[in-house]
Amino acid sequence: MPPRSSLTIVLAAGEGTRMRSSSPKVLHPVAGQSLLAHVLGAAPGGAGDTLAVVIGPGEEAVADETKRLRPEAATYVQRDRLGTAHAVLAARQALARGADDVVVVFGDTPLISPGTFHRLREPLNKGAALAVLGFQAADPTGYGRLVVEANRLLAIREEADASADERAITLCNAGVMAFDGRKALAIIEKVGNANSKGEYYLSDAVAVVRDLGLEAVVIETSEDEVRGINTKAQLAEAEQVMQARLRKAALDAGVTMIAPDTVYLAADTSFGKDVTIEPFVVIGPGVSISDGAVIHSFSHIVQASIGKHASVGPYARLRPGTTLGDGARIGNFVETKAATLDAGVKVNHLSYIGDAHIGANANIGAGTITCNYDGFSKHKTEIGAGAFVGTNSSLVAPVRIGKGAYIGSGSVISRDVPDDALALERSEQTNREGGARRIRELKTRGKKPKGD
Ligand code: UD1
Ligand code: CA
Repeated sequence: MPPRSSLTIVLAAGEGTRMRSSSPKVLHPVAGQSLLAHVLGAAPGGAGDTLAVVIGPGEEAVADETKRLRPEAATYVQRDRLGTAHAVLAARQALARGADDVVVVFGDTPLISPGTFHRLREPLNKGAALAVLGFQAADPTGYGRLVVEANRLLAIREEADASADERAITLCNAGVMAFDGRKALAIIEKVGNANSKGEYYLSDAVAVVRDLGLEAVVIETSEDEVRGINTKAQLAEAEQVMQARLRKAALDAGVTMIAPDTVYLAADTSFGKDVTIEPFVVIGPGVSISDGAVIHSFSHIVQASIGKHASVGPYARLRPGTTLGDGARIGNFVETKAATLDAGVKVNHLSYIGDAHIGANANIGAGTITCNYDGFSKHKTEIGAGAFVGTNSSLVAPVRIGKGAYIGSGSVISRDVPDDALALERSEQTNREGGARRIRELKTRGKKPKGD
């Protein structure tokens, strides 16, 4: 039998008022990715699987995030927020087009895994009209309760409408449902709004299915997979669950972390073999760490690629666009941004390297600053392979330091320095002495110093 096709409808139109934030709820991050990105990443995504996201009016940012992650997905706007069943009907066009299975998932449940979607769809293949994902809640407050009798799912009761007996039920609605695609539209259209909030509850699809004489079943999963996020406290709880998962996966993959609970990873962090991450490191999105690299304590890394056997920190900050070549060394209190450091480059102390390219094995002395911003725009600094930049130098971009050039300490370099040249701008006694040493050194190596 060919695999069943699916339509997944992600509900992301709620206002998220309980987050007390001006940005849409589903764009809040867990492990460096939006809630929506987690859900879209777990939803069925093979051939024959289509995707629709229901967003609130004026929430272009949610549409943009959808397009960025799953360009093929359709977005639908729910103009009035009249409840979860009403939200599903905003995607009526997609529903009418049909699919074997219709899966509805909330955009605020980021911990769900692809395997759970698969398990939830299985009963449809065996004739059920509806499968509801359920879980045992440690504290069921706020969740819809699953009313089950003799193994049959009869209804879902929302908290506001539940009797005292029903409120005592701990088996709850995770919010994820799979419908027989041939019946989904007819079922959801029959959901009414005769409840205390006057909303169209998707939860009531269960009672509709029963009234039609069809079968609804529960598939259970763990609470950690289906935590719904309504508040900042729940966002923090989800982060904890996700971090525990990511740390375990990293340890399983061979990463050494002696205090994993103090290391923060992103959902997309990638590791080579024999990577070591010391305590208290924060890794944001878009980071790859190659074989044998060591990240020392208190480093903060975002959108950076770290070469084999490179060493970072302690107390380093690698900002977006940083690429470290094999064996490169970034020491304490060094900040990098949009910087490519080729193999063997050393920036060991107290530096800012922004909008720069540094050739292989160059040595950047303590306190070196690339002055990349003139108050109007950003400019590039190019440092040739094997160059030596003395301590406390300011490199005023745009500027090019030639290969093998030597910059005396305390220099302010605002003009290009040729290959193998010696630059002693703002030279003071110490520079002269250092320069003289350099000239002697170059002569003993048979090189002719320029520009001295
Ligand atoms: C919902 C369920 C509840 C379940 C819980 C699990 C209903 C009525 N209740 O409650 O049974 O236990 O999730 O987390 O389904 N949304 C829209 N349009 C709307 C309303 C909501 O798109 O008009 C979206 C929201 O963006 C959110 C999702 O639907 O992603 C769920 O809405 P929310 O208000 O968070 O429902 P809960 O009260 O958590
Ligand atoms: Ca919710």
